Amino acid sequence: MRILISGGTVVTASGTLDADVLVDGEKIAAVAGREEGGVQGAPGGRSAVQADQVIDATGKYVLPGGIDAHTHMEMPFGGTSSADTFETGTRAAAWGGTTTIIDFAVQAKGSSLLATLDKWHAKADGNCAIDYGFHMIVSDVNDTTLKEMDACVTAGVNSFKMFMAYPGVFYATDGEILLAMQQAARAGALVMMHAENGIAIDQLVAQALAAGRTSPVHHGLTRPPELEGEATNRAITLAKVAGCPLYIVHLSAAHALDAVTEARDAGQNVFAETCPQYLYLSLEDLARPDFEGAKYVCSPPLRTRDHQAALWRGLRTNDLSVVSTDHCPFCFKEQKELGRGDFAKIPNGIPGVEHRMDLLHQGVVAGEITLPRWVEITATTPARMFGLYPGKGVIQAGADADIVIYDPAAQQSLSAATHHMNVDYSAYEGMQITGKVDMTLSRGRVVMEDGEFRGPPGHGRFLSRDLCQYLT
Ligand code: URP
Ligand code: ZN
Ligand code: ZN
Repeated sequence: MRILISGGTVVTASGTLDADVLVDGEKIAAVAGREEGGVQGAPGGRSAVQADQVIDATGKYVLPGGIDAHTHMEMPFGGTSSADTFETGTRAAAWGGTTTIIDFAVQAKGSSLLATLDKWHAKADGNCAIDYGFHMIVSDVNDTTLKEMDACVTAGVNSFKMFMAYPGVFYATDGEILLAMQQAARAGALVMMHAENGIAIDQLVAQALAAGRTSPVHHGLTRPPELEGEATNRAITLAKVAGCPLYIVHLSAAHALDAVTEARDAGQNVFAETCPQYLYLSLEDLARPDFEGAKYVCSPPLRTRDHQAALWRGLRTNDLSVVSTDHCPFCFKEQKELGRGDFAKIPNGIPGVEHRMDLLHQGVVAGEITLPRWVEITATTPARMFGLYPGKGVIQAGADADIVIYDPAAQQSLSAATHHMNVDYSAYEGMQITGKVDMTLSRGRVVMEDGEFRGPPGHGRFLSRDLCQYLT
């Protein structure tokens, strides 16, 4: 099957080009600037080429499919499980122009990493609409686990998330983190850190609850940005001692960004992502009355608005190099409800896998980031960071034909009534968006077009990933 995408503006991390794109089977076969005549057979091109389908992308952007490097489908948390399955969550991702996710396999205390990996394969394999990989959450550091990290790397899972938060659940001590970092360093793997000082936070939470401060806003007030900054500094120090590359996940606070910036300026292999919720939502949302604030409970929490300018600046300076969603949906009814009367029992997480490309496009519209930077932070850098480039994250000959046709002028309003995520609310309800995905191709298959999902079930393949491509 040969598909010709003609008339569009190809946007990559390095710039824009009026070009035609020829897809042959699962791969991009050619990208040809129209000034040079375009791909043969395209309108305005030099001469006829056989294509089974011609897609007219006039007036549209032609983007590499988005890569969301931080999702939680079917994730057990706080006595419940995140509401999107791999099937529903990856379908929603494709609707929003994301063609690859990297989800987290979660080691339960007492279980092995390899058994965990098998369990996550059983959930995902044959069910995903788009390609997918895994990171591994390490919550039980012991001799067996440390050895198994090498086997995970061999199995294409070479990034290990650890937690300085959630004592008694995922929390690891500084000593355990150091050991895991040393092991990861030997294997060339990346440690990803949830950097919040969970020990101190738990004291603040206990004080708040004892004083009767039980509503959702206190989730935010008991997790101050200083405790994210402190933990980020500590993680960076531990990584330096261990000689391990470090990736800070879901960075939300200027305090943490300062620590990352300083480490990067000093030449350390430290990287960080932020998420759309920290760019667009705030502590004011957590303070919504009638328990509505529960919809916005995630960790780290939403911050005061002044942090947002720092995050946008970090995205421009590359101290923040990736935007992922941390998609972790819990329904308002029945799931978020678990924490009515005790904010500490509200399952942590916000849905967003469908809206990342659109939300970050608003950053282009508002002049916060350039068009190529939009593609870089949502597709190209995640591909390089997590060992998927140049198969993913770029429009060039030889790459997978993961392609999004994006209409930059379309208008839409985000709503739970129209989104495709399996969750009963939208954190962005009523938000007006400029731009919309017209069509999504996953490895040469049109999986979404004309407002209809056309992807064959189980089309998505597991991606065994190479090592991070930024390490010096
Ligand atoms: O609140 C969040 N972020 N939920 C998902 C788990 C995590 O820490 O990433
Ligand atoms: Zn986390
Ligand atoms: Zn997460």
